[in-house]
Amino acid sequence: MDELLTLSEASEYISKSKETLRRWDNEGKLLAVREPMSNYRLYKKSDLDTLFGGFIDLKIKETVSNYVEPNHKYSVIELFAGAGGLAVGMEKAGLKCVALNDVDKWACQTLRNNRPNWNVLEGDIKQFDFTEYKDKVDVVTGGFPCQAFSYAGKKLGLNDARGTLFYEFARVVKEVNPPICIGENVRGLLSHENGKTLQGMISILDEIGYNVVPVQVLKAIHYNVPQKRERLILVGVRKDIDIQYDYPKPYKRIYNLSDALKKGDLFSSDVPKSEGSKYPKSKIEVLDLVPPKGYWRDLPLDIQKEFMGGSFHLGGGKTGIARRIGWDEPCLTLTCSPAQKQTERCHPEETRPFTVREYARIQTFPDDWQFAGSIAQQYKQIGNAVPVNLGKEVGYSIVKFLNEYYNLSKPK
Ligand SMILES: C[S@@+](CC[C@H](N)C(=O)[O-])C[C@H]1O[C@@H](n2cnc3c(N)ncnc32)[C@H](O)[C@@H]1O
Repeated sequence: MDELLTLSEASEYISKSKETLRRWDNEGKLLAVREPMSNYRLYKKSDLDTLFGGFIDLKIKETVSNYVEPNHKYSVIELFAGAGGLAVGMEKAGLKCVALNDVDKWACQTLRNNRPNWNVLEGDIKQFDFTEYKDKVDVVTGGFPCQAFSYAGKKLGLNDARGTLFYEFARVVKEVNPPICIGENVRGLLSHENGKTLQGMISILDEIGYNVVPVQVLKAIHYNVPQKRERLILVGVRKDIDIQYDYPKPYKRIYNLSDALKKGDLFSSDVPKSEGSKYPKSKIEVLDLVPPKGYWRDLPLDIQKEFMGGSFHLGGGKTGIARRIGWDEPCLTLTCSPAQKQTERCHPEETRPFTVREYARIQTFPDDWQFAGSIAQQYKQIGNAVPVNLGKEVGYSIVKFLNEYYNLSKPK
């Protein structure tokens, strides 16, 4: 269910007056829904986030640095590695990838092309045994695709989860026995099956000897990523270790699309030219009429109706449709296919989707990180990734934890 805010809450959330919000509702710019009994206006939080950057956490006051120097050589096994967003982030934080697994041939090709020395294990995770790494690796990470568990009992055990990819993640953690493990996922895991899926995961990690730190959803915009993307982080700390894990602290500075694509503080040059997909002619004609930061509601009414078809009357903000991104805002979450219907993120000045290299910049991949496969395969790998800079900050938090751990226990 979408979170709803009252008029006062919405006004505070996006720092606009209640009067402005009422006017916008009347003009159709930001539609409220009505509370059935009182008829009071209620606003969908996701609409506010998408349109007005309410997504930004205004309470963050100071910019701090999460950077920590590793005291020892730390190693990571990265499962469900994709094109390496998280792996590159970990590498930037100073962790060495000793093995990476993915079933996707093109993702594995990307990893091999860019890091010929990495040990890329291509194929279904079920086929791989990791016992050779037992007690030799500091962290196991993985963005396992989310699947429901079918169980009737009170508490889910590892064996009950057989057949799911989370089972495989937990199995590898058990085989390797690292001090810390990190799962990453989409926010939707919080509410998947009314929270039962996440609870099941926590109870499985408990069973295999890991305490789960209270789960957090990190907003990439607070970790030097010019994109409103979120990642849920699930951290397990081996039960014999009495050290607190701290999430990376958010930065106040927010980067925008201009920072992503132009020379500046985030990148030392303009984005390199590259291939990209195109919109069909009919979509170009419509999107040509949308201004930067605008969306389908900015179209003339007759075109709105034609473009939206049946969904025109369905209500709700649908603020991601026919959206043109502005230079001075972070990009909306990139999807796996940039010309996909109803999730347009049009370039600010040209009526086209972002190119492959623009996509990679918005995910903070370095310009020299090459993606293998067709254009569609490349977009998919980039769209699936953890933003590199978010991965780097999570990496620092792991380094900090491991430094403390090895200070107290045997030096490596
Ligand atoms: C969300 S992506 C991970 C992205 C990656 N963490 C990154 O930062 O770039 C999930 C990955 O899981 C992989 N995957 C799905 N099923 C798998 C399986 N059975 N065995 C291994 N990998 C699998 C997919 O190919 C995909 O690349």
